[in-house]
Amino acid sequence: ARITLRQLLDHAAERGYGVPAFNINNMEQGLAILEAASACDAPVIIQASRGARTYAGDIMLSKMIDALVEMYPEIPVCMHQDHGNDEATCMTAIRHGFTSVMMDGSLMADAKTPASYEYNLDITERVSRMAHWVGASVEGELGVLGSLETGESEAEDGHGAEGKLSHDQLLTDPDQAVDFVARTGVDALAIACGTSHGAYKFTRKPTGDILAMRVIEEIHAKLPNTHLVMHGSSSVPQELQDVINRFGGEMPQTFGVPLDEIVRGIQHGVRKVNIDTDCRMAMAGQFRRIAVEKPGEFDPRKFLKPAMDAMRNLCRERFEAFGTAGTA
Ligand code: G3H
Ligand code: 13P
Ligand code: NA
Ligand code: ZN
Repeated sequence: ARITLRQLLDHAAERGYGVPAFNINNMEQGLAILEAASACDAPVIIQASRGARTYAGDIMLSKMIDALVEMYPEIPVCMHQDHGNDEATCMTAIRHGFTSVMMDGSLMADAKTPASYEYNLDITERVSRMAHWVGASVEGELGVLGSLETGESEAEDGHGAEGKLSHDQLLTDPDQAVDFVARTGVDALAIACGTSHGAYKFTRKPTGDILAMRVIEEIHAKLPNTHLVMHGSSSVPQELQDVINRFGGEMPQTFGVPLDEIVRGIQHGVRKVNIDTDCRMAMAGQFRRIAVEKPGEFDPRKFLKPAMDAMRNLCRERFEAFGTAGTA
């Protein structure tokens, strides 16, 4: 059955587990997530970015979720808009059956310019009020995702020294978080602790200076009843980099968020853990492997089935690591 983010994360907080939120763009990813959830009895958060909605189409996405819910009636499914950038994106998602929306007001609607606190507060409060009228949940974001190694925020294009932000400008301020949650009424708060989207998060295994888990502990101490969200939470496992590179890929060495750091976050109020890159890499590695090992193959299913299997295994590992397994 479909449930809201609020319902799911309240249960997760009560029992002390975290829930991975996997991005979806197509049927194979949906099947992989639900097969994994069903195999280990876990509730799921499926999220679609604006790009996913454009890629698959709202009707296709929405009917796909209907199909998954019908195929796996025992699994609670939260359907979430990832990085909504304005009121219209969030409201149209809800109209298409999403039970939860992220209003990311940390950036302006162009997703390229960091927003002022007042802008973020105002637009998030408005979306929160509207979504709650119709029973949907809301995730807000405070702080800027980006690298503590380089000072580059995701909103910047990386050019010019004036684009570099200090640690304090990137990381979520705990006192501001208290004000933001009280004034917006969001159900969950995404925070910035030094992670970024994509595969290239850290140039070395992250330590406390570049992955600031202490920020999460400080925020949780001030907001013990607020569900926290970690974006950019792919672990970018070495094995997945190796598969891609063994079969003709050219990914430079990189480091993601270690699973034990995420588990530490879950012990301090993190309830939703966003993962897209790991799933992409699991699938892409299999596409490359089949292309190299079976150069005569041209049936898409022969590429997609191993890719789906690899993503299913990855999802299951995350359900088990975050304590989601066995709670559905
Ligand atoms: O926020 C980033 C997610 O990985 C979604 O990425 O916008 O390319 O679909 P996307
Ligand atoms: P990754 O790129 O680390 O998978 O993060 C995904 C994410 O935060 C989606 O909102
Ligand atoms: Na999100
Ligand atoms: Zn994100």
